[in-house]
Amino acid sequence: MARFIDELKRTHHCAALRATDEGKEVVLFGWVASYRDHGGCVFVDLRDREGITQLVFDPDMKGHDEQPKAAHDLSQALRSEWVIGIRGIVVSRGGNKNPRLPTGDVEIRVVELNVFNKADTPPFEITDQSDTGEEKRLQYRYLDLRRAPLQKTLRVRHRIHQQTRRYFDDAGFLELETPVMVKYTPGGARNFLVPSRMNPGKFFALAESPQLFKQLYMVAGFDKYFQIVKCFRDEDLRLDRQPEFTQIDVEMSFVNQDDIFRTMEGLIFGIWKDVLGVDLHTLYPSGRFPQMPFYDSMGNYGNDKPDLRFGMPHTDLTKLIVAHGGGGIPFWAPIAEKFKSGQYREDLPAEIVKAMRVPAELATKLSRAELDKLEEFVKGMGAKGLARAKIDDKLAWTQSPLAKTLTPELRDAINAATGAQPGDLLLFQFGKESTVQTVMANLRVHLGKRLGLIPDVGHGGKWNFLWVVNPPLFEYDDEKKTWAAAHHAFTRPHDECVDLLDKDPGKVLCYRYDLVLNGFEIGGGSIRLHDPAVQAKVFRALGISDEDARIKFGFLLDALRFGAPPHGGIAIGMDRLAMLLSGADSLRDVIPFPKTQKGTDLMTDAPSKASPEQLVELKIKVIEPPPSPQSPQSPP
Ligand code: AMO
Repeated sequence: MARFIDELKRTHHCAALRATDEGKEVVLFGWVASYRDHGGCVFVDLRDREGITQLVFDPDMKGHDEQPKAAHDLSQALRSEWVIGIRGIVVSRGGNKNPRLPTGDVEIRVVELNVFNKADTPPFEITDQSDTGEEKRLQYRYLDLRRAPLQKTLRVRHRIHQQTRRYFDDAGFLELETPVMVKYTPGGARNFLVPSRMNPGKFFALAESPQLFKQLYMVAGFDKYFQIVKCFRDEDLRLDRQPEFTQIDVEMSFVNQDDIFRTMEGLIFGIWKDVLGVDLHTLYPSGRFPQMPFYDSMGNYGNDKPDLRFGMPHTDLTKLIVAHGGGGIPFWAPIAEKFKSGQYREDLPAEIVKAMRVPAELATKLSRAELDKLEEFVKGMGAKGLARAKIDDKLAWTQSPLAKTLTPELRDAINAATGAQPGDLLLFQFGKESTVQTVMANLRVHLGKRLGLIPDVGHGGKWNFLWVVNPPLFEYDDEKKTWAAAHHAFTRPHDECVDLLDKDPGKVLCYRYDLVLNGFEIGGGSIRLHDPAVQAKVFRALGISDEDARIKFGFLLDALRFGAPPHGGIAIGMDRLAMLLSGADSLRDVIPFPKTQKGTDLMTDAPSKASPEQLVELKIKVIEPPPSPQSPQSPP
C-alpha cells in the first residue's frame, strides 16, 4: 500500500490555507511551479488548479525525527512541473507575508515528500503572463491549460453550463440530445462530410446545428427543449468563429417572439449574476433588453450587430444625393441617375452614399497622417478610398476634394442631415451597398477603439445588449439574380407580409432575431413556419420546386403536416458568450482544445491523411493537389 494517496489523503487544495490554519498538519498534492534553493532551506511553490501554496524544506525542522531531513534531501532534486505530494505543518510566514497570494500569510514546513512523477523541462514557462507564441502554446495545450488565466476561463465555461442547466430545468425545459451525424441539407453553412463505410460512396454531414431535430421535438410534443451542443461548420475562420463550437440551443412550442426574448433574458441575467456577480438590473431595470429594427441597424451602423457602447452613427445620404441629382459630384451623379431611371429599388442591392460625422473634440485627435492611415485601412476592405471633409466656422467644407464641385444646396443638406458643426469631420463612402456597409461598419468600430470611446467592460464599463428584430425574409442574390432565404427557409414571415410573398418578396419581413452584445452576435433564432400553405408560398418565392423541396427537406415537410404546433427558438453562441464574459480577444482563448486559423489542431496534428487501407475500405480516392513550387516537401 502506497503511503501517499492510499494512506495519506489530500486534506486541502493549494489555495485553501490561511493564518487560522496555523499549527495544522496537512497533505497537499500538486505541481512544482517554482523552486528556490537558499542554501539551508529549499522553497517550492506548489500549484494545483485552485492556486499556490509555499512549501519550505528545512533539514533542521525539529520534532519529526529524520523525516524532514530526508524530505529536504529529496527536494533538492525537484524541478519545474514535477508532480509531488507532501505532508507538513502550517506555519506563519512572519514578516515575509506575500499579499498577492490568498495563501500568502502561511507556508508549509514539509515533513514528508513523495515524487509521483518527474517532468521534462517544459517548452515554455507556466506563468500567468506568457509571451510564448500561440502556435507553441497550442502544440502543448495541456501545459498552456495549466496557466491560471486559462484555468479561470474554463471555470467560466463550467459556470455557464451549470447555470444554464439549472435555469432551464427550473423553467420546465427538457435537455434532449440530437444526432451529430445527419443528412446533408443544402443552404446553411458549409458542412463537414463523414464517409459511411457501410454505405460506400455515401456521406453523412456533421450537424451544423440541431435545427431540424429540435423542430421535430416540437412536432413530437416535447414543448420545451434545450441542449448544450457541439456544432460543426466548415467555414473560413475568424477570431469569433471556430469550425467546432458550442451552442446553447433552445426551442419552445406555443410561444411568440417576445416569449422567447423573456426566456433568454432570464438566462442571461442569471449567468451574469452567477459568473460575474453582476446584477444586470442596474443596467436594464425592467429586466428586458432593448430592440432595434434590422433596417435601422443597417442604416445607422452598417451591420446587424451594432456596438452601442459608443455613438458616431452613420447617415445614409442616398436619398439626398438622388434628390440633388448628385449635387455636382462626378461620382455621385451616376448613382442618382440609376435610382431616377428606376434601375434600382430600395429593397434591392444598389449603390449608396453614406457619411459618418466625427465630432470636433474627437476630430482634433486625428492628424492628417492618421487620416491617411484610415484611408489605407478602408482600402484593405475593398474601398476605393475615403472621401472626407472638415467643417469650418461658417459650415463650409475644407480639406476636401468634394468641396470643389459640390453645390452649396447639397452641402447644406448634408450638414443638416449629419448634424455637422464647426470643427467636425465628415467621412464618406459610396458605391456598392454591401461594400459601403461593411467598410463603414468596420470604420466606425475601428475609430471607436482608436479614439478611446469603448469602455473596458471588465472595469466598470458597459454591457450593451440588443435584440435586432424584423429583418427581411429574403436576400437578393446579385449573382444568381434570385431571392434566397436570408436565414433559412423555415422562418415565419410577419402575418401582414404573407400577401407580399408572391408580389414583392423583398418587402417581406420576418420573425427572426439576433441577440447582440457589445458588437458581437451572441445568438440568433426565429419563429418557425408551421403552416404548410405559407411554407409552400415561401418555397415558390425562393424558386424551389415541390420536387426540390421534397429532396431537400422531405422529412421536415412530412412532419409539419402531422400536427406541428406553432414554435420557435434560438441558439446562443456559448463560446462567444464565454469570450465576452472572460474578456478574451479570441475564441481560441476560451475553447480548451481549439483549432488554428487554418482549421488544424497543432497538438494532435489533425486533420491527417487516411491510410490507403482506410481509403479502400471507404471506396474513396484522394485527388492530390498539384505540388506547389514553393513547398519544400514537393517533388522537384
Ligand atoms: P446561428 O447560425 O445564428 O443560428 O448560430 C447561433 C449562434 O451560434 C454562434 N456561432 C458560432 N460561434 C462560433 N463559431 C462559429 N463558427 C459560429 N457560428 C455561429 C453565434 C450565433 O449567433 N439553428 C439556428 C438557431 C435557431 O434558429 O434556433 C442557428 O444555428 O453566436
